[in-house]
Parts: sequence; structure tokens; C-alpha cells
Amino acid sequence: MADTFFKYDSVTIEFDGEVAVDSVSFLVNPGEILGVVGESGSGKSTIIKSINGILNSDACIKSGQIIYNDKKLLTLNNREMRRIRGKEIGMIFQDSIGALCPIRTIGNQIVEAIRAHERINKEQARERAFLLLEKFNFRDVNKLWKSYPFELSGGMNQRVGIAMAMLLNPPLLLADEPTSALDEQAAKAVLSELKRMSVENGTSIIMVTHDPQAVREICDHVLVLKNGNVVEQGSVNQVLNNPESDYTKALLDAVPVSRSDEWKISLA
Ligand SMILES: Nc1ncnc2c1ncn2[C@@H]1O[C@H](COP(=O)(O)OP(=O)(O)O)[C@@H](O)[C@H]1O
Ligand SMILES: [Mg+2]
Repeated sequence: MADTFFKYDSVTIEFDGEVAVDSVSFLVNPGEILGVVGESGSGKSTIIKSINGILNSDACIKSGQIIYNDKKLLTLNNREMRRIRGKEIGMIFQDSIGALCPIRTIGNQIVEAIRAHERINKEQARERAFLLLEKFNFRDVNKLWKSYPFELSGGMNQRVGIAMAMLLNPPLLLADEPTSALDEQAAKAVLSELKRMSVENGTSIIMVTHDPQAVREICDHVLVLKNGNVVEQGSVNQVLNNPESDYTKALLDAVPVSRSDEWKISLA
């Protein structure tokens, strides 16, 4: 195994001379889930996109290294990054609709996505997909399978996008606010599948979230960002039960109302 599974090392990223990510460093070990929290504009999405090589062209990476399995990602060319994206480093977007093909059925595109990376037949791919989709609170997976993205709600497309990223079984999965468009029940189902994936398959996950309860439920470590700087980082226990900064305390207090009771109970 590689010496370093994943290391984000003193990375600085600017837009138009404005620093968006300021010498940020963190490590992720195999099977660990890192929660990334911080107010809007603090650099969370920029960090996620830099890992997968999908930053807008106006972004300028000034310094630092991103190391995955001993490979320096920032030195790879487009072709090499394409080979890593999806299969090695998966990505769940906040809004998956853009990641889905509008003119093909959900079933077809899931099967093709799996078969682009693995030598299994269509029936095997379908079976594996059904096992996961059945856990994602769809009323009728058979009907879903034959549907086109435009026939589904935003929340349904989101769950399909999450399932697709997970079905490729990447060792590292990036998720940028994966559950913010989902109702509470669907969000819970998705979070518990992410956790299962990390426990059973050893998948590492970097998850941006607004929801402290989600951090509590599935993350091992937390990184707190403000204006592109790391305010604090550490184990979930340490950061959530004993936050060092007032900024972190304020973030943790900004709990969605519907979940606040649960949040208090789990802190007790
Ligand atoms: N394409 C872009 N062009 C210019 N500035 C950007 C761009 N993307 C992000 N930024 C700036 O970088 C900072 C971090 O943004 P972002 O990473 O999207 O924050 P977050 O995901 O935490 O809300 C913000 O100040 C934002 O305005
Ligand atoms: Mg963002």
C-alpha cells in the first residue's frame, strides 16, 4: 500500500489575486470520513474541486501538493486525471442533475457507468445497482430504472447521482453537500450507506456539509474552514464536544430547526 493514501499539503488557491484557499493541509487515511464545515464562501467547494481537477479555469493554484496513493495529482495531465476521476476518486455533487445524461434512461446510464470501469455483464451490473437503489427510499425501483432524468424530482435525481458515484466503488469519494437537496428520511438513508461503504469497503470520504448532525453521525474527523483558512481540525469528538474557537461553536449552533432536538440528545 502507498505510504500516503491522501494528503492535501499546504495548498493555496486564488481567484483573480483573491485567496480562496490559504495554505490548507489535511490527511485522510483509508476508511476514514472527513467532514468539511465552514460558512458559505469559506473555500469548501474549491478544495473539493481542486482534488478532482475540476476547478474553473480562472482558479490559480499558487502552491502546495495534493497526493493520492503517492501520486502528485497537480502534476498529472488531463488524460491521466480522467483515468482517476470516477473510478479512483469519485464525486457526488450537491445537484446531480448535471452529471446525468438527459436522453438516456437511468438504468442504461448506471449500467454503462459501471461497465465502463469493470468487466461485468449487464445483468450483474443491474443486480448490484438494484441492491443499492432499494436502500435509497425509492417507491418503485423498477419504474425508476426505466425513467429519464426529466421525469424525476430533484431529490430522486440526486439519489441516483449518489448511487452512481458509489457503485463505481472508488477508494476515495468526494461529496459536496450531498444531502442538502434531500428530505430528512432520504438524507438519513444516504448517510448510512456512505458510512456502510467506508466501514465495509474501506472507502475514504471527504464530505462537505452544513449539518453538524451528519458530521456526528458518520464522520471520524472534522476540518473547520473560515475565509480559506483552517480554524481547527481534529476528531469529531474533540471538535464537536470541545470546539476551540467561537466560530466553530457558532457553526455548530446553526443547526437546522427540525434536527435540533436530536442534536441536543446526541450531545448528552
Ligand atoms: N469561479 C470562481 N471565480 C471567482 N471566485 C470564485 C470562484 N469560485 C469560488 N470563488 C470564490 O472563492 C471563495 C470560496 O468559494 P467556495 O469554495 O465556493 O466556498 P464554499 O464552497 O465554502 O461556499 C469565495 O470567496 C468565492 O467567491
Ligand atoms: Mg460550496
